[in-house]
Amino acid sequence: MITPQTIEQIKNRIDIIDVIGEYVKLKKRGSNYLGLCPFHNEKTPSFTVSPAKELYKCFGCGKSGNTITFLMEHDKMSYVEALKFLANRYNIEIEETESTPEQKIVQQAADSLYIINNFATKIFDEKLFDSEEGQSIALSYLKERGFREEVIKKFQIGYNPNQKNELANALIQHQFNKDFLLKSGLVALRNENELVDNYRGRIIFPIHNNSGKIIGFGARIIGKNDKAPKYINTPENEIYIKSKVLYGSYFARLAIDKADECLLVEGYTDVVSLHQAGIENVVASGGTSLTIDQLRLIKKYSNNLTIIYDGDAAGVKAALRGLDMALEESLNVKLVLIPDKEDPDSYVNKVGATAFKEFIAVNKKDFIIFQLEVMLKEAGNDVTSKSNVVNQIAETLSKINKAEDFTKQQDYIKQCSVLLKIDETGLTNLVNKYKRDKIVKDEKKLPFEEADYFHQQSKQPEDVLDENVFLLNQDEAHERNVMRVLLENGLKNWDDQKTMAQYIFEELEAFHFENTQLENLYNTYRKQYEQGLQPDAKSFLYNDDENIRSLVVSITMFPHELSLKWDEVLEGMHITNRDTSQQDVLMSVNYFKLKKIKKMFEENQRDMEHADFDEQMRLIEIHKNLKEIEKEITRQLGTVIMK
Ligand code: CTP
Ligand code: MN
Repeated sequence: MITPQTIEQIKNRIDIIDVIGEYVKLKKRGSNYLGLCPFHNEKTPSFTVSPAKELYKCFGCGKSGNTITFLMEHDKMSYVEALKFLANRYNIEIEETESTPEQKIVQQAADSLYIINNFATKIFDEKLFDSEEGQSIALSYLKERGFREEVIKKFQIGYNPNQKNELANALIQHQFNKDFLLKSGLVALRNENELVDNYRGRIIFPIHNNSGKIIGFGARIIGKNDKAPKYINTPENEIYIKSKVLYGSYFARLAIDKADECLLVEGYTDVVSLHQAGIENVVASGGTSLTIDQLRLIKKYSNNLTIIYDGDAAGVKAALRGLDMALEESLNVKLVLIPDKEDPDSYVNKVGATAFKEFIAVNKKDFIIFQLEVMLKEAGNDVTSKSNVVNQIAETLSKINKAEDFTKQQDYIKQCSVLLKIDETGLTNLVNKYKRDKIVKDEKKLPFEEADYFHQQSKQPEDVLDENVFLLNQDEAHERNVMRVLLENGLKNWDDQKTMAQYIFEELEAFHFENTQLENLYNTYRKQYEQGLQPDAKSFLYNDDENIRSLVVSITMFPHELSLKWDEVLEGMHITNRDTSQQDVLMSVNYFKLKKIKKMFEENQRDMEHADFDEQMRLIEIHKNLKEIEKEITRQLGTVIMK
């Protein structure tokens, strides 16, 4: 872990205009800078960078963040890579902290597994090319299937001899730890104590992570054999997490970026064959349906996903299962089915690279339309089934959800209503109903950013959507607002005794946040403050917890309408050029309390209904007290507004 001191140093040196200016031509506009957004295509600039807030935001596509997130998004760096990049740029020496014992154990396991995998890959390579068994059994099989040495070497494909423990013995000789060896899946335990090779007589496909490190293996049996599984794969361990891996992603990254399209196939051999044919923007899912992590991995490089599967029913079903998730991630999904019981590997070998590419280009079908056609065919003339289809497609379309996808959704509604032979407005209404249902369902657990986004969206098709559904839970708005003033003004002085942060802590001692994310942020702030650190909006943008970072961006970049109303009041005061942060804090804190007290009134009222006489007397006392507090708060608020 990089030390907070180093992060602090980096933070102090960062000049957001300087860093982003290398990627985007920026022009000064008032206190901000404006340029063409690097994250989407546009002709008029809507990408705004604020040097004061150290943030950027594009009003076209909605992307926002700070210098670090910019590097992460734009150059696909990890959080740590971005920090190191900046440290290097500003000549700052990086200090790393001791990790916790648990972190150390995981790190050690990971390091050992990488070393073991590397070692084994070298042996597999030797065995394939230099041993007689490898050449005559494995290499000849690969060549027979059309793989040339060049591509075999590129993907580091190898061979595990058909011997009981050749690999195991070599591993033991090198004194690798037995537990890690077992974790790696390369060997298995036999007769309590003996290590034997797990992938005997198999062709080995090493699996690389995004930076090219070998995290696991797929081991294919040679030829046909009904008694043993065709592939054996690495078990999950510290470095191999199946749901996050796409085979070939390391070799495909640049090509996907360049083509702005990611091809997805099922198998290892499909990836290797297509590469050999010069089609390099391709990854494999390993025959299971796509996970959300895999979709996000793709989305790092391109928004366009083209799934190329065998034409058999199983493949299509597997593909369909990931669809809704892909839509929610705003991916444009196309589908191509390979005909005649072929798969991409055999088909490209049969027809050649040019014909293959042409086949894909011609037969690429929009995934939603494809799904609709399949369902319609299954439904036939049955009225109930057909109405199910209408509902299902409406629900699918409702998942196209991001504000920037609005026209895309309308296009689909048009196309689908034609295919379904129903009225377009009817389908629109149904889609919106599904959207509302989902929002109502999610409302309670909605993180703010999304709530804001629904807010924006509700303004588009005004006639269709019921505005009220989108209104934020007001309690949370007040909680969020208190957090905002804490981040913005906490370090300023309240009076000559205390800071605004201290004032807020004291005032809110008896209250708590209902939104757990905000509560967590509030407590983290308080802890840091009490440790003598100087937490503010900027310092939180360097927090290593992504949730905290995005929450802080959303709170400070998109102040809720409450504080916008404040602004009107406060604006009046600006005429006198006074610092209005104290009033801002005072109002935020008091409205927060007022809101909580109102809640207590309600609870009190509810208790009253079931209380016996004594209990009622007690509750009435509480009621009176609450009234007093309420009066005091309103009085304070009154004076603020009058002042
Ligand atoms: N797979 C697996 N375990 C199996 C079968 C398949 O993990 N027992 C995964 C592998 O990732 C494989 C993919 O599913 O690459 C697709 O399976 P399949 O089409 O059967 O294999 P191919 O990759 O086409 O292999 P080959 O061309 O050698 O038959
Ligand atoms: Mn195949």
